[in-house]
Amino acid sequence: MNDSLVEIKDLHVEYKTDKGVFGGTQIIHAVNGANLKIKKGEILAIAGESGCGKSTLAKAIIKLETPIQGQILYNNSDMLKMSKKELKEFRKKVQMIFQNPYSSLDPKMKIINTLKEPLKINTDLSDEEIEKIVEDTACKVGLDKECLNLYPHEFSGGQRQRIAIARALVLNPEFVLADEPVSALDVSIQAQIINLLKDLKEKYNLTFLLITHDLSVIKYLADRVAIMYLGEIAEIGTVDEIFNDPKHPYTKALLSAVPEINNKGREKILLTGELPSPANLPKGCKFHTRCPQVMLKCKENCPQNTEFENGHCVKCFLYN
Ligand SMILES: Nc1ncnc2c1ncn2[C@@H]1O[C@H](COP(=O)(O)OP(=O)(O)O)[C@@H](O)[C@H]1O
Ligand code: SF4
Ligand SMILES: [Mg+2]
Repeated sequence: MNDSLVEIKDLHVEYKTDKGVFGGTQIIHAVNGANLKIKKGEILAIAGESGCGKSTLAKAIIKLETPIQGQILYNNSDMLKMSKKELKEFRKKVQMIFQNPYSSLDPKMKIINTLKEPLKINTDLSDEEIEKIVEDTACKVGLDKECLNLYPHEFSGGQRQRIAIARALVLNPEFVLADEPVSALDVSIQAQIINLLKDLKEKYNLTFLLITHDLSVIKYLADRVAIMYLGEIAEIGTVDEIFNDPKHPYTKALLSAVPEINNKGREKILLTGELPSPANLPKGCKFHTRCPQVMLKCKENCPQNTEFENGHCVKCFLYN
């Protein structure tokens, strides 16, 4: 049985940019042969340094970016070949929560209208039915009914993120992508939003793709984790596998840098060198320029995925 809601196979997404004063274009290889599965009802987290392609991957899944190569299957059907009708259904079932609740809400719209809008566009429901759904959804995310007649600027960051979450939920989606949903918020209110997401996932059987560079959030919230490096998935596994038995040298380095997580007395692994530019990818293993365990073959050849039990996968020659 295939329990995947989303399956990504050998996905490549590029951006073309101007090179600058001397003209010409530059190709940014933002996602480079990424493979992963998101299982129904799970929270899959994607972690990795800034610029490694996390947001681009999410944008490709919701069709805000078009891949140049690869496949995205949603419920086993190829997203890149969806008919207009299928696409309309898809847009209802899949919703995104963005990082910044200050810019993702229309400042000129009352909250009630922000929440009504997706229902007006995507359904034939009556005004009364829409109003009822909006009130119920506001309640689900912990917003008072009185809030609905206010404007975004009248709310704190945490409240605004609740509104953005409510907007993602009004259409009763099955899959929600959250791109750094708490990193623009005060640390003091991050936990409230994280708990809200956990609650919603459990109550409404949602499937989540959670993008965050915060490994403590992942440990608390996610079921599985994908570690991304230069547009590839270096390692993927359950939270337990990744945090207690990391295999990829990059995963080990990332974990060793977080004191709250590295509480087993593991030595801190300092990564030397800069993250290479996605406009100029290294040959061979993408991590070889910084890997403490680099071997000769890593500089020339790309390692394949090695699968351990339960779908724990690692892309590294140490295990090939
Ligand atoms: N619209 C864009 N145009 C050109 N380059 C982009 C664009 N969006 C992202 N990039 C580049 O693509 C790479 C991956 O970016 P992104 O997916 O935003 O990474 P992350 O979310 O992991 O920080 C980065 O080098 C970034 O600068
Ligand atoms: S393949 Fe080689 S360079 Fe890449 S992570 Fe493994 S050991 Fe390091
Ligand atoms: Mg991002």
